[in-house]
Amino acid sequence: MTVIAVTGSTGALGGRVARLLGAQVGRLVVRDASRAPRLPEAVPEVRVASYDDREACVRALQGVDVLLMVSGAEAPDRREQHRTFIAAAAQAEVGHLVYTSFVGAAPDATFTLGRDHADAEVAIAESGLRSTILRDNFYSDFFPMFATDGVIRGPAGQGRVAAVARDDVADVAAAVLRDAADHAGQVYALSGPEAITMGEAAARMSAALGTPFSFVDETEDEAYASRRQWSTEQWQLDAWVSTYTAIRDGEAAEVSGDVERLTGHPARTLEQALGTA
Ligand SMILES: NC(=O)c1ccc[n+]([C@@H]2O[C@H](COP(=O)([O-])OP(=O)(O)OC[C@H]3O[C@@H](n4cnc5c(N)ncnc54)[C@H](OP(=O)(O)O)[C@@H]3O)[C@@H](O)[C@H]2O)c1
Repeated sequence: MTVIAVTGSTGALGGRVARLLGAQVGRLVVRDASRAPRLPEAVPEVRVASYDDREACVRALQGVDVLLMVSGAEAPDRREQHRTFIAAAAQAEVGHLVYTSFVGAAPDATFTLGRDHADAEVAIAESGLRSTILRDNFYSDFFPMFATDGVIRGPAGQGRVAAVARDDVADVAAAVLRDAADHAGQVYALSGPEAITMGEAAARMSAALGTPFSFVDETEDEAYASRRQWSTEQWQLDAWVSTYTAIRDGEAAEVSGDVERLTGHPARTLEQALGTA
């Protein structure tokens, strides 16, 4: 029987994938066993490993045929953490690795975290692991979190974003994990059904959620200044501000049909992602 392992199951995306797979999940790889989700239809094995601990990762991944690697939390050493985990997966002879990357991942991507994802994709290619890359757009259900007191501020201008619902990413991931061999070597772009401006997103969130949202188009200098109250770390500020400049520059505007092709259902709209339609 194929052993499917899922990382990140204490979080939103990995947790949803684990629930979708149900009895098909053989193993959950978590940082804290006490927080591993309980699944109604399954009792998967739970193994503990953090991406930065090579030995623990090798132990946690031995015997795994198909692995979902949910990208790790934002951190200055995230690239090293990802590289450690990928090397461990290769050492443990994992059969197939599925990685949640970012749309337009490239060494010179405007969105600075997209550069980290490009680095992980290179590490996966160099590892020799059979793989499938899911290049997720920004998460549409996360958009309300972009706002402070109902105002989304950032230098996105009139740029468009084809944000994707996390539930759609989970549906795709579950489909790929179930039939991994059919997806070997593929890179999928996971987007919503349309590309909208942040102004349009704010108006639609207001209508859907019944609370007012607005969008203020900051300059880059204003964007850095308004975020310094939350962090003084340059990498963090760059990541936050470049979320918006990537949208402004059209780097997250691609509407791809991959969600529908892979799941058999249309990609969720913003309202559906917010649970209001
Ligand atoms: N496309 C987008 O708009 C977007 C937005 C936000 C995040 N992301 C990326 O997408 C990923 C999944 O999103 P999500 O909503 O499911 O995030 P989430 O709810 O924060 O869950 C992240 C999961 O990854 C685990 N994790 C994080 N760092 C790890 C590490 N170094 N070693 C092992 N496990 C680690 C966490 O474990 P713990 O519970 O132990 O912390 C948690 O289970 C995020 O981790 C992030 O990389 C994308």
